[in-house]
Order: sequence, then structure tokens, then C-alpha cells
Amino acid sequence: MNAPMDLRSRPALFASARACGKVILVGEHAVVHGQPALAAGLAGALELTATRTADANAPVRVTIPAWDLDVELRGDLEHPVARACSEVLAHCDGPLTGWHVTGTATIPARAGLGSSAALTVALARLVLGEQADRDEVIAASMVGERVFHGEPSGVDSAVAATGGVLRFVRGQAPEPIRVAAPLQLVVVPSEVPRSTADQVARVRRNVERWPTIARPMLDAIGAATDAFQDLLARGAHERMGELMDFAHHLLAALGVSSPILDELCHLARASGAAGAKLTGAGGGGCIIALPASDPAPVLAAFRARGLAPIVVEVQPC
Ligand code: PMV
Repeated sequence: MNAPMDLRSRPALFASARACGKVILVGEHAVVHGQPALAAGLAGALELTATRTADANAPVRVTIPAWDLDVELRGDLEHPVARACSEVLAHCDGPLTGWHVTGTATIPARAGLGSSAALTVALARLVLGEQADRDEVIAASMVGERVFHGEPSGVDSAVAATGGVLRFVRGQAPEPIRVAAPLQLVVVPSEVPRSTADQVARVRRNVERWPTIARPMLDAIGAATDAFQDLLARGAHERMGELMDFAHHLLAALGVSSPILDELCHLARASGAAGAKLTGAGGGGCIIALPASDPAPVLAAFRARGLAPIVVEVQPC
């Protein structure tokens, strides 16, 4: 490991920094309770650029037009994004004044595609550099993720910093996993916002009230995750849809789906997907669908519903 650098000797920001977004393939929510999750990085999700402002005492400003975000890191910090950003900068001993940070994003915000982790990872890299130790970057990102989500498992920060496909178990080092063949998924934003913290709290409440019912569901999601990993390693895509359906229905039973997410999964299956599930915290955000072959009919069905599906490719790393 590199010798730790003196963070206080870095008053400035680097010119630019990047981070991945993510889709959780399977294992969300169960991962908060100790089960494994598989997450795939979405490369090119966010690039931040830093420029000095004329007034060196002006608070750092963060502007990401694609997310309708324009905040100043002032003292009151009512805005959770402003608070998270300023805590990440403070954690890294970065500057809190004299800089304007602008971002180009290719993923939507607050949709379960890892926008907050992408922001906090890229911000940490603006202070620490693109070559900074990954664990150091992830630790800084988690400081911001706690502001957003209260009790993050860390999967989003790990994949935002690493990319590829990771198996993540809370408290353990993320493990890059084998993907035998590229896997095409259709990601469909429901355009319904939701709060990860509320969704995580909902599952926790169910687990505390009904442990003998809810815990076996979390265990079953963990088993689906292991089976999915095995299929990914063998390139056996045809059975993955069944596992995605299991995972979606288990998440619904734990209380984190919604009528719109159930409807979108149903539409995906009816238009030729081998399986579909919510991805991320649920309650809104996105679903992912696995096209049985050609994604075109699945895309067409969602476009006809007025939505904006995107195709992402999960790559061997
Ligand atoms: O914030 P989202 O939608 O990417 O969801 C994060 C995944 C959860 O498992 C629900 C929470 C966590 O911290 O792992």
C-alpha cells in the first residue's frame, strides 16, 4: 500500500474527475442485512470539472444541469446535496471556498442508478486525484452517502469507484466477478422519485416486526444472488430472467415495490423480456428487464407508454 499522503498539503482541486453509476443486478435491500448483492458499473455516468472562482472566499458551488442541481456550500446547508458535498470535501481536507464544480451526467438523479455515490466519488477524486487509493475514495464517498441515505450498505460507493461487476457483502472488500459474456439489460426509469432511506427503513421495520417471515425472504434474495452470479460466470443468460422475477416478487413482499414498478415489470415480461425486477431501493426509481433476445420490442413497449428506456451492457471486466 502507498504511504498515506498529507491531505492538508492539497488545498486545490484537480481539473476533473469521473465516477460510474450503477445498476444493482440482484441483492438490493438484502445487502443491508448481510446478504450478498451484485452491482454493475455504468461507465461515463458523471464527470466533474473544477474551476477557480474570482472570489477565493466564495463558497464552493456545485452545478449539474442534467440533475437540475445548483447549490452553494454555505454555512446553513439545509440542502442534503450541499451538506453531503461539504462533508466529503471536509473529510478529504479539500477547499470549501473558491471553486466552481460543474458536472456532466448521463444518468438521471434519484432513480436508483447511483447518482449520489457517483457525485461523492467524483468529488472525492477532485480533491484526492483520479489515481487516489480506492479505499480512501470509497471511505470519503460513504461520508456523503450517510447524509443522503442514513444507513448505506456501501455497494453504491464501491461500484461507483470501481466499475465492472462487483459482488458486495457488507463489511467485506468488494469482489470483481467473472462475466462470461456481455449482458444487455433495458433500464426503465419510472420517473417516480423515492427516498432510499425511507425504503431501507421500511424493510428494517418489517424485519423487526416479522423476523420469522422477513428474514427467510432476505435469505432467499441472497440465494438468488448466488445463483445469478453462477449464471453470469457461465454466460447462461437464459435462466437469469427467472431469478430476476423471484427477486422482484421477494422485494415486493418486503414492501419496497409499488403499483407502477409492478406494472412496468409486467409490461416488460409481456413485451418479450425473460424477466424483470426493480433495481435499487424501489418505491419508484427504475426497473431492469432482461430481453429474451432482441431488446427492440421491449424498448418499443416502454416508449409507447411515454417512458425513456435505455439499454445498458454489463461487460466482462
Ligand atoms: O439508492 P439506491 O436506489 O441505489 O438503493 C441502494 C441499494 C439498497 O440496498 C436499497 C440500499 C443500500 O445501501 O445497499
